[in-house]
Amino acid sequence: MKFFVDTADVAAIKELNDLGMVDGVTTNPSLILKSGRDITEVTKEICDMVEGPVSAEVVAEKADDMIREGRILAEIAPNIAIKVPLTWDGLKACRVFADEGRMVNVTLCFSPAQAILAAKAGATFISPFIGRLDDIHLDGMDLIADIRDIYDNYGYDTQILAASIRSVNHIVEAAKIGADVITAPPSVIKSMATHPLTDKGLEQFNKDWAATGQKIGK
Ligand code: E4P
Repeated sequence: MKFFVDTADVAAIKELNDLGMVDGVTTNPSLILKSGRDITEVTKEICDMVEGPVSAEVVAEKADDMIREGRILAEIAPNIAIKVPLTWDGLKACRVFADEGRMVNVTLCFSPAQAILAAKAGATFISPFIGRLDDIHLDGMDLIADIRDIYDNYGYDTQILAASIRSVNHIVEAAKIGADVITAPPSVIKSMATHPLTDKGLEQFNKDWAATGQKIGK
C-alpha cells in the first residue's frame, strides 16, 4: 500500500519523507489556505522534496478553464498529478489530461457510479472520501470495498486513493480491502505508531531497568 500525505505543510512532509514513508502528497484549496503559502511556491517545494505524485487541484468549474489551470499546475514539476473534481466538466478535463499523458487525480468521489466514470475517463487516481461519508452517517469504507470489487471485475487500472481519512482504523480497514493508496494527515500517520500497551510495557521496562542499577555502555 502506498502512503500519500494529505497536507501542504512542508515541515510535516519532510519529517515523514526522511523516514522513507512518503510515496506522494495530496493538497487541496483548503490545505493551501491552511499553509498560508502561495500555491505555486509551496507545491514546487513539495515536488522537489518528494519523488512520487503531488496532487495540485484546479479551482475552475468549466472544463476549458480546468484544462487551462491544470496545464499551468503541471508546469510546476513533472510529478504533478492534476486534481479535478468529480463533475461532468471534471471528467472532460480528466480525459484531455489523460490523453496528454498527464497524471490525474479525480477527487470528491462519493459513489461507485462516479468511480466507474472516472476510470472510463482515464483517471490515474480516484479519491473516494471516507470521512465525509461517515460524517453524514453513511459508511465510507463500503464505498472503498464497492470500488475495489468493480475495478477488479473489469481490470481498470485507475488506482483507488482512499481519502478523507480521519483515523488509524480508516487506514487499516482501507488496507484490508485493498485500496492502492491512502492519503492521510501527518498526525494520523504518526499515531499509527502508538498503542497503550506499548506505553505501558515501556513504563514497566524502564522501572525494572532502573531497579537493576545497571547502565548500557560506559
Ligand atoms: C484528498 O485528496 C483530500 O485532500 C482530503 O483527503 C480531504 O479530507 P477531509 O475530508 O478531511 O478534508
